[in-house]
Amino acid sequence: MKITSAILAALAAMSAVVTLPAQVKERPIPRIMKKDGRFALFVDDAPYLMLGAQTHNSSDWPAMFGKVWPAMEYLNVNTVEIPIYWEQFEPRQRQYDYTAIDKLLAEARQHRVRLVVLWFGTWKNGSQHYMPEWMKLAPDRYPHMIDKNGHSVDSPSPYATASLDADKSAFAAFMRRLKATDPQRTVIMVQVENEPGTWGSVRDYSPAAQKLFEAPVPPEVINAMHVTAAPPSANWQDAFGSEAEVCFHAWSVAKYVGQVAAAGKAVYPLPLYANAALRDPLKPGAPGSYESGGPTDNVLPIWKVAAPALDVLAPDIYMNNDAAYLKVLELYHRDDNPLFVPETGGAGNTRFFFAALGLQAIGYSPFGMDYNGTRSAAESSKPREEFLTPWAMNYKLIGPMQREIARLNFEGKLQAVAEQKDKITDTLSFGAWNATVSYGATRNNRAVGNPEPTGRVLVAQLNDNQFLVAGYFCRVDFRPAAAEQHRQFLRVEEGTYENGVFKFLRIWNGDETDWGLNFGAEPLVLRVSLATY
Ligand code: DGJ
Repeated sequence: MKITSAILAALAAMSAVVTLPAQVKERPIPRIMKKDGRFALFVDDAPYLMLGAQTHNSSDWPAMFGKVWPAMEYLNVNTVEIPIYWEQFEPRQRQYDYTAIDKLLAEARQHRVRLVVLWFGTWKNGSQHYMPEWMKLAPDRYPHMIDKNGHSVDSPSPYATASLDADKSAFAAFMRRLKATDPQRTVIMVQVENEPGTWGSVRDYSPAAQKLFEAPVPPEVINAMHVTAAPPSANWQDAFGSEAEVCFHAWSVAKYVGQVAAAGKAVYPLPLYANAALRDPLKPGAPGSYESGGPTDNVLPIWKVAAPALDVLAPDIYMNNDAAYLKVLELYHRDDNPLFVPETGGAGNTRFFFAALGLQAIGYSPFGMDYNGTRSAAESSKPREEFLTPWAMNYKLIGPMQREIARLNFEGKLQAVAEQKDKITDTLSFGAWNATVSYGATRNNRAVGNPEPTGRVLVAQLNDNQFLVAGYFCRVDFRPAAAEQHRQFLRVEEGTYENGVFKFLRIWNGDETDWGLNFGAEPLVLRVSLATY
């Protein structure tokens, strides 16, 4: 009898082991939270910082995955941004092909990364190149925009109801599939369309669009844009003058994208966002000189009111000018919008990840980071990792403490900066303490700035007199805010984070602290305890 029950118990245990992998625990749906004016992306019920990288446009094919995952591993990302193509997903009307998304989810899980999926739908960089063939071959039903001269433009009409209906249905079907197959929440956010808007015409000039342009501006737009000088029932020209056409097109495009987003969100309420091809934030050209109708900085309130299903409006930053880059970060860090940089580039810009962290960014992602891109002859002679290394440095440092950083930032305890050309010091103020950051200082020499601006650092307050400091290519010191006091280091601990816990390695003193705390080319995390005398 005893033996039989032992055998039964063993069998029961075995069957539990066999069935376990199939039982996937449903995790909480990721969501954007706001507290005390600060935002965080919650994943698995805690603040999460997307250490992201985006693939090239044509990388989401099973045959290409072999050149995606090794690059992502090298970068130490926790999140991969990758497109889903409408043309692949709905090759025949209302017949959805789930092979790409299913395979993508399986591979991402194997490689232990989360995904931000980019819905390349009606718009991709202002054009309709990802519409399925059955739509491309029926331009009367799924029309392009018309320019001032009556010619078709390489951009979809935002008034095409058949296109809108088709996109809504396809996107909803896609979200339904995610909901059914992703209880693990491998996908944490979805981008709706890609850089929606238009190049080559400021707005649509079709007769239907012209009629709307001459009609009164909807009151919610007047309110959102704080227009006070316009007469009642003002049309777009009266209300917005030289910005009338771009405001009108933004309203039209945002309304369309907002409806697609809402259709998907009704099925599965993941965080959703739209990304913008920017205008120059310091010297904006006239409407028509930048992509018209997308969420550029001048029309963000219109997008907010037209597309409330979008949680975030996000800048794609490719500027190689420090002041412009920083200005963009500021413009998209708003009380009604968390900062998220879904695309960026430029080898000299890697340090701005820290500037974004300083504005509580929920995520950051350089573009084109897998090995599927074409390389020039000069590039081909270099190891392919070389291009990734400056970006990888950021994530190698932050990766092991990503959850702590996300939490400290959400709690308002973290500040971070990136070196700017010709600016050799920065000061971060924490009430009773100031952290002074200097660049290009050696031993007891004064700071002169690094030869190329590469400095970056974050400082987070752990207690009244204790700080976490992590960065590269800079020196950090602390000064009491009260002028008559001096600082002394009680204890400067070098360590690493493991599973959320600071692991002590050694105490810094003597030469390592007498000139300030120097951060070089290696990942370095210090926990600094201070006192005054
Ligand atoms: C911005 C777009 O959003 C990306 O998909 C890509 O086309 C880059 N520009 C350019 O490489």
